[in-house]
Amino acid sequence: MSGKKSLWSLLVLALLMSCTNGESPYRFYDWNVTYGDIYPLGVKQRGILINGQFPGPQIESVTNDNLIISVFNSLDEPFLISWNGVQQRRNSWQDGVYGTNCPIPPGQNFTYVLQVKDQIGSYFYFPSLAFHKAAGGFGGITILSRSVIPVPFPPPAGDFTILAGDWFKQNHTDLKAILDGGHDLPFPDGLLINGHESNGNTFTVDQGKTYRFRISNVGLTTSINFRIQGHKMLLVEVEGTHMLQNTYDSLDIHLGQSYSVLVTADQPAQDYYIVVSMRFTPQVLTATSILHYSNSAGSFSGPPPGGPTIQVDWSLEQSRSLRRNLTASGPRPNPQGSYHYGLINVTRTIRLANSAPIIDGKQRYAVNSVSFIPADTPLKLADYFKISRVFSLGSIPDNPTGGGGYLQTAIMAADFRGYAELVFENAEDSVQSWHIDGHNFFVVGMDGGQWSPDRRLNYNLRDTVSRCTVQVYPKSWTAIYMPLDNVGMWNIRSENWARQYLGQQFYLRVYSPANSWRDEYPIPKNALLCGRATGRRTRPL
Ligand SMILES: *[C@@H]1O[C@H](CO)[C@@H](O)[C@H](O)[C@H]1NC(C)=O
Ligand SMILES: *[C@@H]1O[C@H](CO)[C@@H](O)[C@H](O)[C@H]1NC(C)=O
Ligand SMILES: *[C@@H]1O[C@H](CO)[C@@H](O)[C@H](O)[C@H]1NC(C)=O
Ligand SMILES: *[C@@H]1O[C@H](CO)[C@@H](O)[C@H](O)[C@H]1NC(C)=O
Ligand SMILES: *[C@@H]1O[C@H](CO)[C@@H](O)[C@H](O)[C@H]1NC(C)=O
Repeated sequence: MSGKKSLWSLLVLALLMSCTNGESPYRFYDWNVTYGDIYPLGVKQRGILINGQFPGPQIESVTNDNLIISVFNSLDEPFLISWNGVQQRRNSWQDGVYGTNCPIPPGQNFTYVLQVKDQIGSYFYFPSLAFHKAAGGFGGITILSRSVIPVPFPPPAGDFTILAGDWFKQNHTDLKAILDGGHDLPFPDGLLINGHESNGNTFTVDQGKTYRFRISNVGLTTSINFRIQGHKMLLVEVEGTHMLQNTYDSLDIHLGQSYSVLVTADQPAQDYYIVVSMRFTPQVLTATSILHYSNSAGSFSGPPPGGPTIQVDWSLEQSRSLRRNLTASGPRPNPQGSYHYGLINVTRTIRLANSAPIIDGKQRYAVNSVSFIPADTPLKLADYFKISRVFSLGSIPDNPTGGGGYLQTAIMAADFRGYAELVFENAEDSVQSWHIDGHNFFVVGMDGGQWSPDRRLNYNLRDTVSRCTVQVYPKSWTAIYMPLDNVGMWNIRSENWARQYLGQQFYLRVYSPANSWRDEYPIPKNALLCGRATGRRTRPL
């Protein structure tokens, strides 16, 4: 009885909140995207800068804020920015990938209108077209809780963003040419932390105080390990989920993933290394920054601390230790545990196997044998304007076929309000990282070997993390549960940028027949039109 009552009051509260949504604050950003000289590995490179910055400016927001981001493309190539982890509820129009948006032509601008609806946490944005991500153009996104929502830890004395990842000396057009030529990328030339390889950043802390570090892997091809010399890290948030606060000496962060930790400056006052190093690679490159106590008596002693390198089991164990705090609030005042994801009936199981086929003599990457090729018109626009022969639904199977790879503009159809089980199956020797736009999902299981239905007996149906990017270990599987609660055209992709570029991605079209603004926003008035959508009207006459 009282359970029912509180559920009712939560529903009323939710309704009230959605009605007052228009009241949410607006934040305006004016971005000019240019080429500029950067020297991340000591040699001059042509980086992609945003308002002259590499990495780009931080977006700092609060749950439900409206972000109005005007992007002027001063490059000599078409350009788009996408928002890793921002769910774009009802609004795949703003997702900024080639399947949803026309590129911003050189010398023109486009204004994104996003809302960070019902979200908290740490994310990043990045340039989504061609191989631009290899030149920069990325930056951090912070979504703080609204002041009325309790946060399960005291306010930190400072909030730092760390964007780390591998880096190449070759520029993005040369790297793209290697891939277009049918070859794999070379091994990266370095690792960077906020654009620097070795001690280019200093994070200053006061002894005795506690700080939040939000760390994202913005790299192209490698998993990383993050650690701070002499300090423990309390894991508090993973891609919008408040976690059971376990302590770690170091954390594995796979491509496209974001973590936030609390670090207390509780050591003797000196300088310490902040370290990222490569994981699961034949050669281990490292980048360092400095944790500087404001009353520091001196510099480091000894070399940066080492971390794990090739150990897969260690990483698997660590990722199994990620549990969400069921009693903590998320973006809403109700506890994260009030959504019983494990009790909902699955309406569809989709198994996705990655592979690396050679097609027409060239290296490609595929999922369920399909290697994605873009259409001449963004899929979302083709769908909206009912332009035929751009794509066909069901052009990627729900299960691995075992057959050889083939090229296809792959779209999977899905019903709004369904509840999907997705199993990522990795028969290859490398770690995979998968990201789904527009959704968060529950990571219910991962293990070595082949997935089979009896693996469900060991799923975590109670307190696993809800996130948007998940790794799959070599010769292993990862299973997720995902509510199909966001109508739109959504990119599902490898976060390994060479694999993504060479076809390891597809689109999920979450469809509602209602054709109602409650389910999906209408096409924005400023939508850019291109391909076979050129000249169409974005508003009725
Ligand atoms: C963008 O930056 C470039 C280089 O600084 C400048 O020439 C150009 O006028 C700027 N464009 C806009 C729209 O601010
Ligand atoms: C951006 O584009 C709009 C038209 O879509 C135009 O009115 C505005 O002046 C442009 N801004 C800049 C800085 O070019
Ligand atoms: C979980 O969240 C609750 C409520 O905010 C908090 O009091 C508690 O300390 C958290 N527990 C852990 C283990 O993180
Ligand atoms: C990348 O480098 C090549 C030479 O290796 C050069 O021709 C090309 O213009 C460069 N691209 C950019 C975007 O700077
Ligand atoms: C799930 O399915 C079972 C068996 O078909 C049914 O008994 C149960 O009521 C369903 N649960 C929900 C929450 O729909």
